[in-house]
Amino acid sequence: MLPDSISSFIKGHLDSFVTELAQFLSIPSVSTLSEHEKDILSAAEWVLDQVKRCGFTGRIYPTERHPIVLGRSPEVPGAPTLLIYGHYDVQPPDPLDEWQTPPFSPEVRDGYIYARGASDDKGQLFTYIKAIEAVLRTGQKLPLNLIILAEGEEEITSPNLEKFLMDHRDELRANAVAISDSAQFAHGIPAITYGLRGISYLQVDIRGPRVDLHSGGFGGIIYNPAQVLVDILQKLKNPDGKVALPGFYDDVLALQGWEREEMASLPVDIQALKDYLGVSELTGEPGYSMVERRTARPTLDINGLWSGFSGEGSKTIIPAKAGAKVSMRLVPNQVPEKIDQLFHQFVTANCPQGVSATVTSFNRADPVLVPRNTPAMRAAEKAIETGFGKKPVFIREGGSIPVVNMIKKHLGQENILLLGWGSPDDGAHSTNERFCIEDFHRGIRSAAALFYEMAG
Ligand code: BES
Ligand code: MN
Ligand code: MN
Repeated sequence: MLPDSISSFIKGHLDSFVTELAQFLSIPSVSTLSEHEKDILSAAEWVLDQVKRCGFTGRIYPTERHPIVLGRSPEVPGAPTLLIYGHYDVQPPDPLDEWQTPPFSPEVRDGYIYARGASDDKGQLFTYIKAIEAVLRTGQKLPLNLIILAEGEEEITSPNLEKFLMDHRDELRANAVAISDSAQFAHGIPAITYGLRGISYLQVDIRGPRVDLHSGGFGGIIYNPAQVLVDILQKLKNPDGKVALPGFYDDVLALQGWEREEMASLPVDIQALKDYLGVSELTGEPGYSMVERRTARPTLDINGLWSGFSGEGSKTIIPAKAGAKVSMRLVPNQVPEKIDQLFHQFVTANCPQGVSATVTSFNRADPVLVPRNTPAMRAAEKAIETGFGKKPVFIREGGSIPVVNMIKKHLGQENILLLGWGSPDDGAHSTNERFCIEDFHRGIRSAAALFYEMAG
């Protein structure tokens, strides 16, 4: 349900909404780089200002790192409460020379707005704010209570959010949580996500001789750290894509028949995917479909690898050190801490004497599944049908959103609606990130419709 007046207001103001979004996108709020601390604060203030202009009360809560914005609508007694979560931080934009236009100078081209954060997640978060504005500026009152929670640390695993949720448990009480930080199944096929993978992210550092050595003078008598590292990495994953870390699959929740059937019925276009990725073949764990491999099966990837000489020409050395970043995407019921421990043990056990291995853990997020047969889900389904003109499909996603499990754990809330307005080809974390303006439009419509569906 979406009143016509609101629908037309959104349509009529879309251009000015895009202009405002462009302001938001021009703030380089990169959470992982300390040089952007000021920008992070500006982005938080920008969000707070928007929220206040909707007549909300709100403030910025500092944390040990990046601030949290919390806003609340004027109370509607007896009406349900929806908690809206989003993140205003973004990933680093490099490599800069691969952007057609600079990442923090948003540009509209061919129906898309291009900028870092356009889809992940500023553009999606902003749909809720504009939906609220549309309700209010057409002379109506909000039909329910809204709380907006926006954080600046999602892209660095939300290290300070857990404590915030625990400390503000009462203020965050709601009937459901809406998070638009995922995507449609494919462009034009809206989806509700009911599962996310978790993550364990580690770094391995191998150290050998005191300094880089002449490989002629000393080759053949000591372990080469680069060789030791690749030997270890090689043992972590079989060529067929199965993760070989002992114990890795122990806690994996097997896919059930109904779910495999449902996944098999999703409208997959493998050729379009290959074209988008620029590869001629896909691969993955034997016995599973592409959709299963991508969203519901765990995996291991080398994210970065370095050692020795990589400059022009040749340099004959045995490097003194070698390193790699490795992450594992986890599925229910794998436990990131446990996986980290298995990884530590394996690396240590496979490192020969004479070289040393150090393993450092970075990000961890729990995998999650949310219940699908709830009134909140039905409301979301109808809202999307209204907003997109199409019923959503139910999917799992391969990415991670740390807050989801924190909400389950600390707020005791299972009604979590993962409503992605973005598209898998938006280029999140990549260069030339974009958000389709028509998806932005449909997102605002769906958000507004969700307010009415939830209010009943
Ligand atoms: N919005 C993404 C998560 C996402 C990606 C959900 C694709 C569904 C589909 C989020 O901002 C993100 O990038 N998360 C990180 C988490 C990590 C830093 C702990 C991720 O998945 O790499
Ligand atoms: Mn995101
Ligand atoms: Mn992201």
